[in-house]
Amino acid sequence: MTKAVLATLQLPHQSAQEVEDNLTELVQLAEDAGLTVVAKVVQNRPRVVPATYIGLGKIMEIKELLSDDEHIVIFDDELTPAQQGNLSELLDAPVLDRTQLILDIFARRARTKEGKIQVELAQLKYLLPRLTGHGTALSRLGGGIGTRGPGETKLETDRRRIRKRIADLEDELELVRKVRQLQMAGRKKADVPLVTLVGYTNAGKSSLFSALTAESTFVADQLFATLDPLIRKWQIAEGEWVYLSDTVGFMRKLPHTLIAAFRATLEEVSAADLLLHVLDASHPLVEQQKAAVEEVLREIGCDTPIINVYNKIDQVLGPVITGPDDLQVSALTKANLESVGIAVSRFFASQFVVRRYLLPFDQLTLLSVIHDQGEVFAEKYQPDGVFLEAKIKKALAKRLEEFEVKS
Ligand code: GTP
Repeated sequence: MTKAVLATLQLPHQSAQEVEDNLTELVQLAEDAGLTVVAKVVQNRPRVVPATYIGLGKIMEIKELLSDDEHIVIFDDELTPAQQGNLSELLDAPVLDRTQLILDIFARRARTKEGKIQVELAQLKYLLPRLTGHGTALSRLGGGIGTRGPGETKLETDRRRIRKRIADLEDELELVRKVRQLQMAGRKKADVPLVTLVGYTNAGKSSLFSALTAESTFVADQLFATLDPLIRKWQIAEGEWVYLSDTVGFMRKLPHTLIAAFRATLEEVSAADLLLHVLDASHPLVEQQKAAVEEVLREIGCDTPIINVYNKIDQVLGPVITGPDDLQVSALTKANLESVGIAVSRFFASQFVVRRYLLPFDQLTLLSVIHDQGEVFAEKYQPDGVFLEAKIKKALAKRLEEFEVKS
């Protein structure tokens, strides 16, 4: 197994705790990528060293830690192409930064074809300026960390071939997006709500997705036969169905290259009617992870309602402290799983109200809005307008307040 030495700087504005938390997460990320962390090195410095990120003394110290074995050094920050090249040369070992590590993990975890293309694009674009001269050090690990994703594209491959691959992937992405948009439109037309799972990486989204939809017999009608496999129909209550979709895991300090790459996927999160935020209740940093996910959601301007689902309660001894509306489940043991469907069903029920209106004849355009967006139970043409009783969304009810018939 490839061994990893982790390295970082503690700058004056950072507390020791902050650096420690970041490193703890980097260890987790490295392990997720299949590496064994053998050492962590922190250097206190007033500022970043432009050419080598850390000081020369520290570089030598790290070099001592590297044996003849397959070793790799990971920096807990984004390195410039020059820093990465210099470090790799001085250490005579492959050097990765946090972004590359995360890109690698995303490459393994991307769920959809679109996601996979996006990660590969992000990897290639990140790689391109880093190619000259120093590529060989990285590629020595052949097929391992840092070379995953671009697949056939070896790091020595000249820029021209990488550019061609980028152009091809962009074409392919365009096509995949068009298909996705058609599917989204199809779902909207069918008027079935979309619930999306979000959450920090490793929280258990995929496990929950499978557990919740395992018993749903998929009705393969023509319209949905080509649905993305990561969206499934989920029966939340008798006669009540929603679509449930799974997304790629979020992370703290998500590199901007990735946010940009995933913008389209993340926008889909905004298109959902409800988000289920899956949290790993057994993780010591669960509240930080929660905040990190909420931060990304804010960043993409998502204001979709959220229900928090604390997962893995089977691994927690004693009570889990959560908000009153938060759920506690285990996707593994299936404990309390039914509470998720109940909460979702309750949420959608609370989104609708039944109201009676008298619409004057000069407001008849509203009649078609109500028909389109709601369910009309009664409709009667009277001398002073159209009387109707309908079940509509709260937001629409607010717009129609002045025409309401109170009894
Ligand atoms: P990403 O792909 O990183 O986004 O992860 P994810 O959120 O989809 O998590 P996934 O479902 O892959 O689960 C991560 C790990 O947690 C797996 O090893 C699961 O077996 C484990 N896991 C999921 N749910 C539970 C649970 O309720 N209890 C326990 N003990 N383990 C769980």
